[in-house]
Amino acid sequence: MNEYRLYNEDCLVQLSKLKKNSIDMIFADPPYFLSSGGITCVGGRMVSVDKADWDKQISNYEKHKFNKQWLRKCKRVLKDNGTVFISGTYHNIYSIGRALEETGFTIINNITWRKTNPPPHLACRYFTHSTETILWAKKSKKAKHYFNYDLMKKLNGGKQMKDVWDFPCINRKEKSFGNHPTQKPLKLLERIVIAATKEGDTILDPFSGSGTTGVAAIKHKRKYVGIDTEKEYIEISKLRLEDVLLKKISETP
Ligand SMILES: C[S@@+](CC[C@H](N)C(=O)[O-])C[C@H]1O[C@@H](n2cnc3c(N)ncnc32)[C@H](O)[C@@H]1O
Repeated sequence: MNEYRLYNEDCLVQLSKLKKNSIDMIFADPPYFLSSGGITCVGGRMVSVDKADWDKQISNYEKHKFNKQWLRKCKRVLKDNGTVFISGTYHNIYSIGRALEETGFTIINNITWRKTNPPPHLACRYFTHSTETILWAKKSKKAKHYFNYDLMKKLNGGKQMKDVWDFPCINRKEKSFGNHPTQKPLKLLERIVIAATKEGDTILDPFSGSGTTGVAAIKHKRKYVGIDTEKEYIEISKLRLEDVLLKKISETP
């Protein structure tokens, strides 16, 4: 397989076309379905919370049905000892957790990404939202999943790595190839990639967006399969992935 493959397609369609048991790890950052016409604060400015059409609020029933559909399809392509990471907020993470259980996955960890520089909110009537949850799950109870324990411990100064991770929100420099409204910070994806995969492994992201998972995968010598419905995000991903490949070539002695 090439270093990466990108599909401009609905993941419910494309996942059915991928080979069964072919993927070592999946990272999924599905729509949170929080675009509701409200307002929020970004960089001290009042802006709409609406991200895009793919993020429009839908009923709880529809949301849960969708989450179960794509998780079932992910399970088919995942190797038996493979794992899946899914990020979300309270808007979708409870549905995801339930959908994982209903589709037969076993949850390994409930990771909290603590944002070190969360934006303030405007209402001042509740606590500032400053975390996202990442659920880590394996295909079955018996599955022998991979975890790079030693590396994680080393990165944590010789102490066991906890399930609360501090990372800042994305900075502007990471968006130099184009804007994606919900792009994840690269450092967060690098932690996931090096914790749960080995060099040469294949990583899939069914909601690939600007390709952050792919950049982390290629940077750490893994292969990448990304799927996204929006052509403009696929174009941003291509630029980012080619850039990281080029940097790798120039680093080769
Ligand atoms: C939360 S964003 C992912 C952002 C990504 N993690 C990044 O760092 O750029 C969700 C993405 O899923 C895509 N999407 C929404 N519904 C989809 C579907 N049914 N199939 C594939 N992609 C979809 C959207 O276009 C959007 O780019």
